[in-house]
Amino acid sequence: MSSTDTYILAIDSGTTSSRAMIFDRTGSVVAIDQTEHRQIFPRAGWVEHDALEIWNNTRDVIGGALAKANLNSKNIAAVGITNQRETAVVWDKRTGKPVYNAIVWQDTRTQKIVDRLAGDEGAEKYKKTVGLPLATYFAGPKVTWILENVDGAKEDAEAGHLLFGTVDTWVLWNLTGGAENDGVHVTDVTNASRTMLMDLSSLTWDESIAADMGIPLSMLPEIKSSSEVYGECRPGILNGTPVAGILGDQQAATFGQACLAKGEAKNTYGTGNFMLLNTGEEQVPSENGLLTTVCYKLGDKPTIYALEGSIAVTGSLVQWVRDNLGLISAAPEIETLASSVDDNGGAYFVPAFSGLFAPHWRPDARGALVGLTRYVNKGHIARAVLESTAFQSREVIDAMNADSGVPLTELRVDGGMVANELLMQFQADLLGVDVVRPKVAETTALGAAYAAGLAVGYWENEEDIRTNWGEDKRWSPQMPEEERERLYRNWKKAVTKTLDWVD
Ligand code: G3P
Repeated sequence: MSSTDTYILAIDSGTTSSRAMIFDRTGSVVAIDQTEHRQIFPRAGWVEHDALEIWNNTRDVIGGALAKANLNSKNIAAVGITNQRETAVVWDKRTGKPVYNAIVWQDTRTQKIVDRLAGDEGAEKYKKTVGLPLATYFAGPKVTWILENVDGAKEDAEAGHLLFGTVDTWVLWNLTGGAENDGVHVTDVTNASRTMLMDLSSLTWDESIAADMGIPLSMLPEIKSSSEVYGECRPGILNGTPVAGILGDQQAATFGQACLAKGEAKNTYGTGNFMLLNTGEEQVPSENGLLTTVCYKLGDKPTIYALEGSIAVTGSLVQWVRDNLGLISAAPEIETLASSVDDNGGAYFVPAFSGLFAPHWRPDARGALVGLTRYVNKGHIARAVLESTAFQSREVIDAMNADSGVPLTELRVDGGMVANELLMQFQADLLGVDVVRPKVAETTALGAAYAAGLAVGYWENEEDIRTNWGEDKRWSPQMPEEERERLYRNWKKAVTKTLDWVD
């Protein structure tokens, strides 16, 4: 690589790991470095991260990726950030120290706060304003929990000492100087749309919802577009490099998949699954359990909205089978084990570990493995684990088709699990439409890189993104219709067995 070439560096701060990826103008990956962080489970239903560990890992992987590519800050035209959304960090701006661990999007501890907020008006109370039903998933009530449960937090927040951020904001504030150098306290519209605090139309914080949640406005970051210069990195290895793009990870994947026109959709197979349908400049309210959310906003251009189907547990079920059951020793082995049998043997696994998200929104649900007989072996269970991802995606796609009125004709996929051929074929079989994987599977980091690169003129316009997108593999449905519907009927029956588990 010539020392004068320039690239875009994307930071992907995900649920399980932090990654830094360097991209060139064709959208190809030049270097990648990655470190996992601890998943902290203090009680059943609670999931936390150490935000300082995430920041330290972020610094390490930036250094690691630059070293692998033999580049330095002069070669980086801009930095983009993408992140696990809804995870809440509250820190003291005087010290830079979080007052509590980050409360992760999967955490269900805020159920009582959510019920209290809903009162007599129910879960849809704020939906018209924020596009979301009241649920433990979103960030706002997690901040309420911290303010109500951490000694001195409420007083410090009211005195203006504490800041709140989703993980993008936490990383940006630290990258741009932190406590010592007056870090930039900003989020983008996509992350703000996952807090339950942002008015989807005005793209500003809703003061009355913040008051209901007991959150002082002084804690909230400034909301900006997804593609503009927010500040410069300082000090450190990227000193002077502009940070110019922020997108929540699912919106970033939508952007990286070049779903830039109304009606285009992608499904990401990560810790959970998240399907987003670009609805253009229109906010489409869902009648089928989907979320209305911001897809992206490029500088001063109009806001683009999306309908989203969020599934809490897909890839993390495979991790659970590895870590908690020991049935496999590495995640890819699930495919080998599942391939040792021809079908699920009658077993269905509904991984309602955080309740059920879209399209059900049932916090009272808990996981179930049903349909067992003595015939069932670990191969069948492995298959039921993989199939649960495809069944849950089918539910979301049915909801999406019902809301949009235009059935999808093919599905673009990305994320770690799309390497799993058995799952992808089963997904196509279950949907009855083609499933398509792009050449660059790292669409999340790529989307953030595009947002940053567009802001500094590294890429000219969205057409560059379309040109860079290419198809890698396509799976077409092979299963007879009757079999597809029989399996799906059984899945729906299995889902009913998971409800009403929490008193
Ligand atoms: O909404 C949660 C989502 O942003 C998490 O994504 O890929 O980090 O599991 P991921």
